[in-house]
Amino acid sequence: MKEETPDIKELQQRIEELEKLLRVSMVLNSSLRLEDVLVMVLDQAMDTLQAEAGTLWLFTEDGSELLPLVARGPKADALKGLRLKRKEGLAGQVADSMDPVLISDVAKDPRWAKRFDDATGFVTRSLLCVPMINKDKSIGCLQLINKQGGQLFSERDLHLSMSLAGQSAVVIENSQLYSRLDLLLTSLIRTLSSALDARDPYTQGHSERVSKYSVAIAKGMGLPAEELDSIEKIALLHDIGKIGVRDNVLLQQGPLDDEQWEMMKSHTVVGARILNSIEPKSL
Ligand SMILES: [Fe+2]
Repeated sequence: MKEETPDIKELQQRIEELEKLLRVSMVLNSSLRLEDVLVMVLDQAMDTLQAEAGTLWLFTEDGSELLPLVARGPKADALKGLRLKRKEGLAGQVADSMDPVLISDVAKDPRWAKRFDDATGFVTRSLLCVPMINKDKSIGCLQLINKQGGQLFSERDLHLSMSLAGQSAVVIENSQLYSRLDLLLTSLIRTLSSALDARDPYTQGHSERVSKYSVAIAKGMGLPAEELDSIEKIALLHDIGKIGVRDNVLLQQGPLDDEQWEMMKSHTVVGARILNSIEPKSL
């Protein structure tokens, strides 16, 4: 019986690719913030595939348009504010059909040669565009242009970028879900704090202002973005205990007597009690 000889070079390449995917996975799972995740996806894809330029396209919530949410390279600025219809352009076709496109050598491909000529002087030599699919649904696509060092993208690069795009789609969907929940939480907190401020016209907008100043101070202190988000929410609730202060004290014109003053001061204790019942403890 003839024994199959393992192709050592092939195995080494596969191991290298798996290592790259593992590294990408570790980086992508380091944050849940959508803005950070999108930038990381494109940077990791460009780094792994050694691309000179790239764009991350995502469908809008209703799926009718495709937006270039992150772009790198000489043409990146030209993409700002651009909106493609669902099937428009190469990105639209790939994202909608879920069929990847590899144009290894643009010069030898008459279908695309002229399409990428433009006034920027950036010449497209090689191009990869792969759909980002999660649970059989396309959320957008990843477009990579020109392999560094004058090389051309290969079939192998196409397969690697598809694995990477699949991994990215899961991470992006998770962070989109997290963003939506966070938005809901922030708007609920904002509604609660404005309901509180509405009770007392004298301090109307007070909680919003305290929140804004707190974030500005925290930013000045160099705190990370995750902490700024928490501070924004927590500051909106700092006076929530005033819910427990009676109108005749809260709305009193002129100085408070001793008993009223004690009641006013108790809003901090009431506030702590209310906030203590929130689960989970970290906002
Ligand atoms: Fe206050």
